[in-house]
Amino acid sequence: MYKIAVIPGDGTGPEVINEGLKVIEAASKIFKFKYETTSFDFGGTRYLKTGKTLEDKDIRELKKYSAIYLGAIGHPEVKPGILETGVLLKLRFALDQYINLRPVKLYNAGFCPLKDKKPEDIDFVVIRENSEGLYKGMGEFQNKGKKNEVAIQISYNTRKGVERCLRYAFEFCRNRNKNKKLTLCGKTNVLTYAWDLWQRTFSELSKEYPDITTDYAHVDATTMWFVKNPEWFDVIVTDNMFGDIITDLGAMIQGGMGIAAGGNINPDGVSMFEPIGGSAPKYTGKNVINPLAAICAGGMMLETLGERDAAQAIEKAVIKLVNSKIKSLAAGKMGYSTSEIGDLVVKLLK
Ligand code: IPM
Ligand code: MN
Repeated sequence: MYKIAVIPGDGTGPEVINEGLKVIEAASKIFKFKYETTSFDFGGTRYLKTGKTLEDKDIRELKKYSAIYLGAIGHPEVKPGILETGVLLKLRFALDQYINLRPVKLYNAGFCPLKDKKPEDIDFVVIRENSEGLYKGMGEFQNKGKKNEVAIQISYNTRKGVERCLRYAFEFCRNRNKNKKLTLCGKTNVLTYAWDLWQRTFSELSKEYPDITTDYAHVDATTMWFVKNPEWFDVIVTDNMFGDIITDLGAMIQGGMGIAAGGNINPDGVSMFEPIGGSAPKYTGKNVINPLAAICAGGMMLETLGERDAAQAIEKAVIKLVNSKIKSLAAGKMGYSTSEIGDLVVKLLK
């Protein structure tokens, strides 16, 4: 019996999570697994009412679950930064979800903004370090508000943090069994402390994985290759900040935020799955947002829980759907409403 904590969150989060839960429910009947869900109201609406983001007791509670299924966090009336650090990043950090797993897979060439790229050309995975780097929140202001103000933001990289992320990436690449190629994406030519540690650790670990071909690309060049030669990539591993940036580009070349899903993974603890896109306030309540990213995130969650067949069936259903009647993956342009897309995936599952 899986215990799933559901955090629908803000904006269109609840709408897309509803569709994801609809698909999980249908999959549970076909593949005969048992689960129960508990909903939590963390997010902007609760913050505006109570002034509270996420407390230590909330974290203690969430640790009792098998997985967390998250819609979106972000509210137009809350100052930027509060919910991001107080809810989303707090969840990632407090639950030590040190991997952010973001598959970039094109399901239909028609939805790719790149010319002449086919599904077989765009099929890679970005493994983003999810607990350190510039996201650590270290730094300070000096002479705040004065003409000689200095703002310092530190990229914090520990050998332990870097090594566990790289090890996960090597193992993932081995098990994925595609081209068995792992690319380290960094900036060794300028960020000579952080990327020296990353590169040294990478080359040390590579000796333990003779079956994996290793490669290195600077982050700026990586964005160029994503557009020019995405077929070069199999698995990419990078730090928190670069991973944040390149996965938005990755989402676009796979068809946009409507389809991009990710997992915040703690291999020894509670992992959390979410559509990569935000809360899309302007579409809230209109039943027009694309729930496929949330549905795919639900599939990733089932895969991680051990329900491989269910996860594969969900992916197959999504592939069938985006190769049949759907006109666009963008909100309001799909030719179907949010809930109709959920229904169609359920139908295709059978
Ligand atoms: C993401 C988001 C978050 C991040 C924000 C909302 C804090 O952009 O999941 O990529 O920067 O990690
Ligand atoms: Mn991001």
